[in-house]
Amino acid sequence: MKQSRRSITDLILHLHPQTVPRETLRVTLSWGLGGMAAVLVGLLFLTGILLLLVYQSSPTNAYASILTLTREVPFGLWIRNIHHWSANLLVIVAVLHLLRVVLTGAFGPGRRLNWMIGLLLLFLLLASNFTGYLLPWDQLAYWAVTICTSMLGYIPLCGPWLQELFRGGAEIGPGTLANFFVLHAAFIPGGLFILLLWHFWLVRKAGGLVQVEREEPVPVERVPTVPDLVVREAAFGLVLVALVLILAVVWNAPLLDQANPGMSPNPAKAPWYFMGFQELLLHLHPVFAVFVWPLLGAAALLCVPFWRESALPGGVWFGSERGRTLAVWTIVAGTFATLAMILLDNLLLHASNVAALDTLVTRGLLPTGLLAGLLAGLYLWLTRKQHYSRAETVMAGILLAMVVLVVCTIIGVWFRGAEMHLAWPWGQGGG
Ligand code: HEM
Repeated sequence: MKQSRRSITDLILHLHPQTVPRETLRVTLSWGLGGMAAVLVGLLFLTGILLLLVYQSSPTNAYASILTLTREVPFGLWIRNIHHWSANLLVIVAVLHLLRVVLTGAFGPGRRLNWMIGLLLLFLLLASNFTGYLLPWDQLAYWAVTICTSMLGYIPLCGPWLQELFRGGAEIGPGTLANFFVLHAAFIPGGLFILLLWHFWLVRKAGGLVQVEREEPVPVERVPTVPDLVVREAAFGLVLVALVLILAVVWNAPLLDQANPGMSPNPAKAPWYFMGFQELLLHLHPVFAVFVWPLLGAAALLCVPFWRESALPGGVWFGSERGRTLAVWTIVAGTFATLAMILLDNLLLHASNVAALDTLVTRGLLPTGLLAGLLAGLYLWLTRKQHYSRAETVMAGILLAMVVLVVCTIIGVWFRGAEMHLAWPWGQGGG
């Protein structure tokens, strides 16, 4: 008994230092979001292995194997639901974790590489969600993947090649399912596993979570990882696992009719985490909606830690009271501005000849130039006139981008009906 306890402690101490600063145990510093993401990844690996015992990855058998799993295999439906909810919650938890890192100034010197590894993790878990989406081979999966892979086709120069590579042919078919299955069940989990170990090790190497920087150095009070930190991690983890298990009992993962390439649903929508981009596609030239804007956003996120003094003071949410006020204003103003732009553009599209408007200049270069000008103007106004620091302004910029994406996602998921026209959720007749 004593021996097995010693082994578990040793295992824990491979991922954690022997002691941690007492200050970083404060729940409100991290809200345990990174740990929650790790627990969800664990649930995904576990349930994924169980699903592999029944799932068959050919277009003729995939759908039937899911029906067998959910109707005949004991606990099969529950296992599938746990896998589904863990995957979807993971996207939300990882984005919240990213925001907490930004809002507590945890991407500065010493943590830059880990920020980049985190971005790679986010990319991989989105790819994992997306490749898993096709596997049940139902109408929802088939058409969502059709929409997303056709978005790839808009990427300049290599778009059509990329589209064919992912589809494993010109159309979605056996080649696509084979590609997606191997990516989902082998390559992506392998990559996730390696990057996660690296991510945890870098937290450890940085001396644990970010801490408040003080003018004069004060001695740091340290407490033993086992039990002080581990008990807290276990409490968060167990509550989360209980929540997912209950959610999986009361709410089934969707499964529509078997995929039918001849019958497209109206509207055909991307998975919810890509709906923000599908919404952008309605307002911008496709090259800008699926390539230029996401690429600029990703490049900005990757480079931001290397901009001098771009991270908030460590360990203090929003950096200061003033920073908090700026964040609230950014969220409120960003939400209203995004809604206003969507409605205005909708009116414009209805009132004018769409074809005449739909050019690379009017729907691509012009809005991009206007946005760049607006952001530069806002930056100068906030730093020069309002005397906000660079870090506070960068935080506001990241929050603004997040707000735009969230509003576009909500509109796309709930307020787009047939032909992707704006509609109230209750008036869409199940579309
Ligand atoms: C599968 C996804 C992820 C998992 C499982 C994960 C896990 C963790 C864990 C357990 C921690 C330490 C505890 C905590 O902060 O709650 C952490 C810290 C950190 N994570 Fe993540 N993470 C993920 C994604 C991300 C993303 C998307 C980013 C940002 C781009 C990111 C950036 C960081 C940084 C910079 C730290 C150090 C924070 C500090 O020192 O206070 N991680 N992560």
